[in-house]
Amino acid sequence: MNLKITSFSEYKEVYDYSVREPENFWAEIADSFRWRKKWDKVLEWNFKEPSIKWFQGAKLNITENCLDRHLEKHGDRPAIIWEPNDPDEAHRVLSYKQLHDKVCQFGNVLRNNGVKKGDRVCIYLPMVPELAIAVLACARIGAIHSVVFGGFSAQSIADRINDAECSLVITADGGFRGAKDIPLKDIIDDALVQCRSVQKVIVLTRSRSPVSMIKGRDVWWEDEIKKVETQGNPPCPVEIMDAEDLLFILYTSGSTGKPKGVVHTCGGYMVYAGYTFANVFQYHPGEVYFCTADIGWITGHSYIVYGPLSQGATTVMFEGVPTYPSPSRYWDIVEKYKVNILYTAPTAIRSLMSFGTGPLEGKDLSSITKLGSVGEPINEEAWHWFDEKIGNKQAPIADTWWQTETGGIMISPIAGVTTTKPGYATLPLPGVQPVLVDENGKEIEGNGVSGNLCIKFPWPGMLRTTYGDHERCRQTYFSTYENMYFTGDGCLRDEDGYYKITGRVDDVLNVSGHRIGTAEVENAINMHTDVVESAVVGYPHEIKGQGVYAYVILGESVHDKELTRKNILQTVTRIIGAIAKPDKIQFVSGLPKTRSGKIMRRILRKIAEGETSNLGDTSTLLDPGVVDEIKAGAL
Ligand code: WT7
Repeated sequence: MNLKITSFSEYKEVYDYSVREPENFWAEIADSFRWRKKWDKVLEWNFKEPSIKWFQGAKLNITENCLDRHLEKHGDRPAIIWEPNDPDEAHRVLSYKQLHDKVCQFGNVLRNNGVKKGDRVCIYLPMVPELAIAVLACARIGAIHSVVFGGFSAQSIADRINDAECSLVITADGGFRGAKDIPLKDIIDDALVQCRSVQKVIVLTRSRSPVSMIKGRDVWWEDEIKKVETQGNPPCPVEIMDAEDLLFILYTSGSTGKPKGVVHTCGGYMVYAGYTFANVFQYHPGEVYFCTADIGWITGHSYIVYGPLSQGATTVMFEGVPTYPSPSRYWDIVEKYKVNILYTAPTAIRSLMSFGTGPLEGKDLSSITKLGSVGEPINEEAWHWFDEKIGNKQAPIADTWWQTETGGIMISPIAGVTTTKPGYATLPLPGVQPVLVDENGKEIEGNGVSGNLCIKFPWPGMLRTTYGDHERCRQTYFSTYENMYFTGDGCLRDEDGYYKITGRVDDVLNVSGHRIGTAEVENAINMHTDVVESAVVGYPHEIKGQGVYAYVILGESVHDKELTRKNILQTVTRIIGAIAKPDKIQFVSGLPKTRSGKIMRRILRKIAEGETSNLGDTSTLLDPGVVDEIKAGAL
């Protein structure tokens, strides 16, 4: 069997085979990677504990697959093309050979600074090549990386560093995003006041803004790389990892509590990221691939770094934002590098769509042959705009459904191989067994049905645990339905058996493709001294997909509500980060609660959606009168 499926009939054959003989199927896929030692057993699992082990006994290092194995034949091929925030700054191209050398060099820097196999390293960097280099250097020496997106606050970083007990932080003086210069090192300094585990901070020079370097703790990236060996073959020997050794932790929000550290392991994740990348995008050597995500999210991990590099691809990495310095920016990048494959998010598409076709005028997009979408349901209008204006109706759109926890794409068209359908993630990839279940956990069979989306058989890229709290992993994903992984998403399967994800069924919002827990935002709002209580729900937002709507009860002493509104926004920015700021804050005198004190979010959601006529049964409410007041004051 080949790694890549190339026709619809082959898809069907391979899919059936993957269900009939999953272990043989995955062993054949895994065969196309480089292992120091092959596995003794392909799979051992139960979803009760859960305990999931792929390729037990196998030994590998993922960076040998992403770098070393390409050197002999393709060392000069571009691995990373980096486009800076400012289009007037020079771009950078790193060949596989150059990337390998830099990863080795920085791997040695980490070792020099006391980092050993199994240590946790927090990475808080802008979208510069050194971010990919830092990630790969950790993987090379067996350190576990925990990348934190540059938009998170000091408090969020501190929580993540403490949860994983990171011993080292890699950051930059500052980072450019559009017109903004984000003071990354200052934010890290604020975070580290609360973090006792951190011994060292490595600081990259990027923005040349002034920073305070603390003696004994903080060192410059540029100084450190001068101190290490770059000779030898390879100059930085890999740490040989067990397939089930931890590769990375990535924090993500859920419906309760603080974000949890999703854990991915070396062997299974590598196989899954590489396999899905090769198939979904039908990557051919020489093609230029551009994923617009940030490496701070799982999309960047799997589809800027590990997936593409494991397949010897050329991956474009962009530091900036789609609208800076103008809404033509993506199209300029496509033209400049003759991008063949563009993988982006519905929120970006909708935002660019809102500028009309002006920004597209005179732009040569003819290099594009394949498109991808990820992060949230794509509405049909955006799908068609993407298809017509960007793909010229010639480029299949892979609407890829997956999650931080799944490690890689699960349900998606295979570009040019299987059929697309606007708004549909369509069919599961071979090796993926989705099921729809009803409230009672009963599998709903047949077509033309909808329910909650679960996966009933393991796949190599799935999460293994939530860091430091296995019980939370069991509770969140494996306890709702027996013997199944529960995704948290609602889904329909149409008459043809095609899947359409309808959105979260839990208290998780998807704002511009970013996952935000309503409880998390409520906790942040409630920290403000004038707030008595709050309830947060999502509502449809034209660009962001979902917006954050907060109902807030204020204390007696508040006089200036406008100022209080701004103060609440400031509080959320401090506690979580600007990405979680409510779009709307409605001050209310009470919240609709049941007699047992539970907030009836269903009602609040409807009001936020502007659907006030049919609120359903409100007779169980403690004080039904409060609903009329909230309705009257709705924003
Ligand atoms: C949630 C996962 C997957 C990487 C980026 C987000 C939603 C994701 C789609 C899609 C409809 C989608 C789901 C999922 N989602 N892709 N193609 N169609 N919904 O990763 O932050 O872990 O969020 O994003 O609701 O559960 P994440």
